[in-house]
Formats: sequence, structure tokens, C-alpha cells
Amino acid sequence: MFTGKAALITGAAQGLGKSFASALLKKECKVCAADNNEEKLQATVREFQDIYGENNVMYAKCDVTKEHDLEETFKRAKSAFNRIDIVVNNAGVVDERNWERCLDINLTGVIRGTLLGLKYLRKDLGGAGGTIVNVSSMAGIFPVEYSPAYCASKHGVVGYTRSWAFHPEVVKNGVRLLCLCPAYAKTDILNFQPESPEDLAQAQKSMEALGIMRVEEVSDAFIKLLEDSDNNGSVMSVTKQNTIYWKMPVPKF
Ligand SMILES: NC(=O)c1ccc[n+]([C@@H]2O[C@H](COP(=O)([O-])OP(=O)(O)OC[C@H]3O[C@@H](n4cnc5c(N)ncnc54)[C@H](O)[C@@H]3O)[C@@H](O)[C@H]2O)c1
Repeated sequence: MFTGKAALITGAAQGLGKSFASALLKKECKVCAADNNEEKLQATVREFQDIYGENNVMYAKCDVTKEHDLEETFKRAKSAFNRIDIVVNNAGVVDERNWERCLDINLTGVIRGTLLGLKYLRKDLGGAGGTIVNVSSMAGIFPVEYSPAYCASKHGVVGYTRSWAFHPEVVKNGVRLLCLCPAYAKTDILNFQPESPEDLAQAQKSMEALGIMRVEEVSDAFIKLLEDSDNNGSVMSVTKQNTIYWKMPVPKF
């Protein structure tokens, strides 16, 4: 199902994005790894190229808050691989102090990546159909007292993704949209600075209660989400305890 296909992943230099890239490369999918951290991205792409071959992994320095960067990334991936089948809008930060930045990366960046994904995947626009996975969080389902802006950005990702998923023109043109909602996983994002000692205590309490996953636990769920069929519009959560699809209502008018 992945052999010979091509994926574009934002925030792929490290953490979950790197783990998603690695899981897809293992399954013989080509990967365009995009990130704004040039140094880390270069190291990651070199590491992947050594294992999977130079022609199967490409590098795209890309800031998801910049429309031009993302457009160029899609253009370059399409021209290098001659196709794009999977788009993973994964880049994200926790930043309550600069909450506009948090929304610009986590939500506006996902919107930009989704619109470009639709442009490249829709059959009526010259694509071959495919899948867009938007990375939300358990914070896209539940309230998070210590990071309300992050929580709002991730709720936004769920609503945005599901809205496009059920758009009749999108369904007709072969694009599937999915949301992945991980709980805590061991990446640099967990080193965020809460605004107060009380918020820090709350964050620690929540991490102790839920546990912290290895990135591979999340990328296993990511692959399952892609492999499962008939799941357009799904929201999948992954925690240390389980991986489940959320039964979210779709109104019928
Ligand atoms: N790790 C967790 O506990 C957890 C839980 C739920 C959801 N998530 C989500 O998973 C995604 C990946 O996070 P992670 O845990 O791997 O964190 P991470 O900090 O390890 O990785 C985030 C990546 O995004 C990149 N990035 C940040 N701003 C960017 C921008 N403007 N343009 C392009 N790239 C940018 C960073 O350089 C980094 O490589 C995020 O959307 C995050 O919200 C993570």
C-alpha cells in the first residue's frame, strides 16, 4: 500500500514527524521531510538517505507560517517524486506566551498545508487522490487548563480536518482526511515553559497520570490510521493505554 508512493511531512526534522517519516520509509514510501530547523533537518535527511537511498528522501527547508515556503515545498516534492500521495501536517509548538505564534504554526500552518494538499491530491485538479493526516492532540479533544491557546489550536485542527473530510467535492475527488490525536510522547515539545509554577504542577500531574509514550507507539498508530480503510473524517487518539477512533457526530441535513 505504500511502496512507490510519496509523502510530504512537515516538522519532520525530529520527534513525531521524524518517526512518521521513518515508519513510511521502512514501508518503501518516498518522503519529503520539511522543517524550519535547517541543521536538524539536514542531519535527519542524511541519516535517512544513508539507510533508504538518496532518491527516496528529500529535504525541504520550510516554515509553515510562510505560504511561499510551503508552496515551494509541494512544488519541489511533486517534481522530485512525480507524485504526492500522503500529506502530513505535523509541525507544532506549545507557546502560551506568544499564543499568536502557537496558532499560526499549529492551526494556520495546518490550514495552509491542507489547502495545498487538496490542490495537489484532488483528482479534478490533476492529482491522483490520496490522504491528508493532520496532527492534532488529546488537547484537540479535551480541555487543557495549563495551555489554552495550544488546546484551541488543536481543537481547530480537528474541526478543520473533519469539515473538509465531509465536503462532497473532496470525497468525490478521492481525498481522505484524518486526524491523529496523541497524548504525551517523549519529544522536545514536552520541554515547554508553562506560564506559572501552578501550570507546571498541573502539567506534571497530567503527564504522570497519562504516562509518556515512545515516539514509535505514536507512529504505529499513524500507520494503522493510514492502513485502515473506510475511515475518512476519523479522529484517532493514541495513549499509553489504547488507540481508539472517536465516535464524533456528523449531522445529516
Ligand atoms: N510529543 C507530544 O507529547 C505530542 C502530543 C500531542 C500532539 N503532539 C503534536 O505532534 C506534533 C509534533 O510535535 P513533536 O512532539 O514531535 O515536537 P518536536 O518539538 O519534537 O517537533 C516539532 C517539529 O516541528 C518543527 N517546527 C516548529 N515550528 C515550525 C515551523 N514554523 N515550520 C516548520 N516546522 C516547524 C520543529 O522544528 C520540530 O522539528 C506537533 O503538532 C505537536 O503539537 C505532540
